[in-house]
Amino acid sequence: MVFYFSGTGNSQLVAKEIGAYINDEIVSINHFLKNEKRGIFKSVSPLIFVLPTYAWRIPKVVDKWIRKAEFTGNKEAYFILTCGGEVGNANVYAKKLCKKAGLTFRGLAPIIMPENYLALFPTPDESQCQIIIEESKPHIKLLAEQIQRGEAFPRKKASIKDKLLSGPVNLIFYPLFVNDKGFVVKDDCISCNKCAESCPLNNIKMDAGKPTWKGDCTHCMACIACCPKEAMEYKAGSKGRHRHYIMEKDDF
Ligand SMILES: Cc1cc2nc3c(=O)[nH]c(=O)nc-3n(C[C@H](O)[C@H](O)[C@H](O)COP(=O)(O)O)c2cc1C
Ligand code: SF4
Ligand code: SF4
Repeated sequence: MVFYFSGTGNSQLVAKEIGAYINDEIVSINHFLKNEKRGIFKSVSPLIFVLPTYAWRIPKVVDKWIRKAEFTGNKEAYFILTCGGEVGNANVYAKKLCKKAGLTFRGLAPIIMPENYLALFPTPDESQCQIIIEESKPHIKLLAEQIQRGEAFPRKKASIKDKLLSGPVNLIFYPLFVNDKGFVVKDDCISCNKCAESCPLNNIKMDAGKPTWKGDCTHCMACIACCPKEAMEYKAGSKGRHRHYIMEKDDF
């Protein structure tokens, strides 16, 4: 069973490719979060979680959802973290999560995909995004083959920097940066509602045809990246940055 959470579509794309290789069912965690549903699953095959990297770990919101979900049957859990560059020491925290959730940790592997964090960081342009996506394909295939053979993902030794990034830096990242106060909407907004629909946490309310944020944001970047008019900014930082959005409507 292949699970994904995705803001802008990278992890959704990787999950779909893994699912196609191993011929397994795909489950959208976005769907469960959006509908505030606890997951109850019975799987004969291993559980594969394909997720974006948030501050060198799996997203907090997904960690919490996995802890509350019920898994019976096959409890082997693989983690594939899509990332703009580095997953740090995410491995250790995914392993701890498995222990709490009664799952058997089978490893964590990164897949480099286009950086989507346009609120805080420069993002690659469209042609660079295409190249990065193409380059990810052999790596995705390799992971699918390892899963098929029942192998654990090999473990990479963490450096001191990795430990700092996934440890103390991750801890201060959320209270310091992850909030929706920086979002602004410009006059170009055509009141299409796409930003509200895209939010996996239902954190956007339309008010007189314009988005307003309700204070429960995980910085997934879906709302700002999906806007067809680029009518949204995050403080001054996002100005002029490419909006990477390849998310497809999911009905899994
Ligand atoms: C809040 C946030 C934090 C991020 N932190 C990291 C990070 O620690 N390391 C990294 O390489 N990329 C980081 N990124 C980039 C994303 O992990 C990457 O672009 C991912 O593929 C996005 O997946 P999605 O399209 O499925 O949401 C971050 C992005 C966001 C929005
Ligand atoms: S997606 Fe953009 S244009 Fe559509 S409602 Fe949201 S801000 Fe306005
Ligand atoms: S408000 Fe925007 S950035 Fe925050 S969780 Fe919703 S879609 Fe993601």
